[in-house]
Amino acid sequence: MTLDVARIRQDFPILHQEMNGHPLVYLDNAATTQKPRQVIQALVDYYEGYNANVHRGIHTLAERATEGFEGARVKIARFIGSPTPEQVVFTRNGSEGLNIVAYGWARRRLGPGDVIITSGMEHHSNLIPWQQTALATGATLKFIDLDQDGTLNQESYDRLLSEGGVKLVAFSVASNVLGTINPVTDMVAKAHAAGAKVALDAVQAVPHMPVDVKAWDADFISVAGHKMLGPTGTGFLWGKMDLLEEMEPTYFGGSMISEVHLSGAKWADVPAKFEAGTPNIADFIAFGAAVDYLSAIGMENVYKHEKALTEYAWQKLHAIEGMRTFGPRQPRAGLISFDVEGIHPHDMSAVLNEYGVAIRVGHHCAQPLMEILDVPATNRASFYIYNTMEEVDRLVDALLHAKEFFGYVA
Ligand SMILES: Cc1ncc(COP(=O)(O)O)c(C=O)c1O
Repeated sequence: MTLDVARIRQDFPILHQEMNGHPLVYLDNAATTQKPRQVIQALVDYYEGYNANVHRGIHTLAERATEGFEGARVKIARFIGSPTPEQVVFTRNGSEGLNIVAYGWARRRLGPGDVIITSGMEHHSNLIPWQQTALATGATLKFIDLDQDGTLNQESYDRLLSEGGVKLVAFSVASNVLGTINPVTDMVAKAHAAGAKVALDAVQAVPHMPVDVKAWDADFISVAGHKMLGPTGTGFLWGKMDLLEEMEPTYFGGSMISEVHLSGAKWADVPAKFEAGTPNIADFIAFGAAVDYLSAIGMENVYKHEKALTEYAWQKLHAIEGMRTFGPRQPRAGLISFDVEGIHPHDMSAVLNEYGVAIRVGHHCAQPLMEILDVPATNRASFYIYNTMEEVDRLVDALLHAKEFFGYVA
């Protein structure tokens, strides 16, 4: 084990409870992760010690709140290798960042004849904003083919780029269903060579692996804080400074202006122009604590831990008769979607829950991918820093119980 998981688990109060008479096994981390005491304490410290609005008052509480809030931006910037903290725009979740790009950049620059390339493996968050952009602008949406093993077909991508008119390429770094990790730097370089900008959905990547946004060289990157130990209601959009500067804001009102007259207004500098109104102060300060927590562990160690767990789970799952997994074996993000012959995922999840095992079932906000895979839904187990090999064994035991229950004993 690369991580001292027993130590880490002590920091997560929620994990130490029983569910239906069994110790809880939480394997729904791709939906949202649990929060360590340090993150919860940061919320308590703020509300008990220095709750005040940011960027406004000059009293001590307001200064401390502003320091904590902007300090979180600095921590996040360092965590992802951003040249400046200002390039980190705070959002509510992973979806919002992509919408800010769609409204503030794409809708103002695209028109009939222009092309947006995306893929069939995307979460709805990285599909619907582009569908809507295409509808609003007359641009065309094109999709990279998916290979049988759940990877993006690079020849299909090259072909779409060569057809011309491509203004934007939007794809996920890691798929929340297939676990596929896409060849980001290569795909970004090709898009740029074709004159297109790139928006990355890095929601399932940044929480799980070392990331340097400079190396990716994408133009926009959207991330969710609640999937990396941070509170719900946190996320961020990272962008190249020149693009953020030339973009229009999506929301208007307080805090996002430099000058206002009855006849009009001028916008504040980046990132303030994208952050109208009182922000989610406490939660971003706590998100900063989450980033501290992950930084102390080291993202290389996080990645190795999840890789070991996923490989172990892969072997164990494939020993079960009637098991079908989706996506490539390696490289893969720390999650496995699967189907067990004859047992609908919703029934499966209900039985697993009886054994204290929490997984996600359904379409995972990727309905087009379900159509491509020709399944109504899948089961998905997703891992994080506090999960253990024993928990994988518990998952497998519960799956075998489910098979027994539904009469498909191997
Ligand atoms: C790949 C991917 N993109 C985007 C999202 C959307 O993130 P959020 O729910 O924070 O908006 C998710 C959430 O599951 C995801 O897995």
